[in-house]
Amino acid sequence: MKFFVDTADIDAIGKLNDLGFVDGVTTNPSLILKSGRDIMEVTEEICNMVDGPVSAEVVAHETDAMVAEGRRLTKIAPNITVKIPLTWDGLKACRTLSDEGNMVNVTLCFSAGQALLAAKAGATFISPFIGRLDDINLDGLELIEDIRKIYDTYGFRTEILAASVRTVNHVSECARIGADVVTAPPNVLQNLAKHPLTDKGLAAFMADWEKTGQKII
Ligand code: E4P
Repeated sequence: MKFFVDTADIDAIGKLNDLGFVDGVTTNPSLILKSGRDIMEVTEEICNMVDGPVSAEVVAHETDAMVAEGRRLTKIAPNITVKIPLTWDGLKACRTLSDEGNMVNVTLCFSAGQALLAAKAGATFISPFIGRLDDINLDGLELIEDIRKIYDTYGFRTEILAASVRTVNHVSECARIGADVVTAPPNVLQNLAKHPLTDKGLAAFMADWEKTGQKII
């Protein structure tokens, strides 16, 4: 399973990238706002840092304008993935940009039916939002499972990019279900390393080591 980082924070991406943990990056208008940076500049910087796909989102609502924005974004770097919202106009823009040979990430997916349409429109990635479904007492992980089943049954090659990931449990469950990619905020990826029994075990080993009076170096 690939790890994408869901942020436009250059420092955070750099730290994880140095460890080889970054297979790609996703951004959205809210994350660009949070970064305080110009979308073109910060996206180009991310693309220069990361080899994998970097999603940059269009903000137009009508197909032709979405396609125009998508084409502009793809000029930033060869690894740009045009992120398009899952609306009827968005699906049409997805078809055009995909037919032109661009990577397209169809975002704001909240149902299996939407995911089916995105695959048929030639999406490279579909982004189901787990956390936002959980927020309204629906089961985000169940949606990932449903899409996995549908895509496998019919041989769709669109990759499932689990988004709106809030917890380490979301990440490990997505891996178990077979999501192709998880995009998570940097702190969630870092939290994957944490376990209270690891901390407890390490403290016990260190206490015993102290008693040996030995040194390794
Ligand atoms: C996905 O590509 C989105 O950028 C992101 O995962 C949304 O997450 P949120 O629901 O925590 O804002």
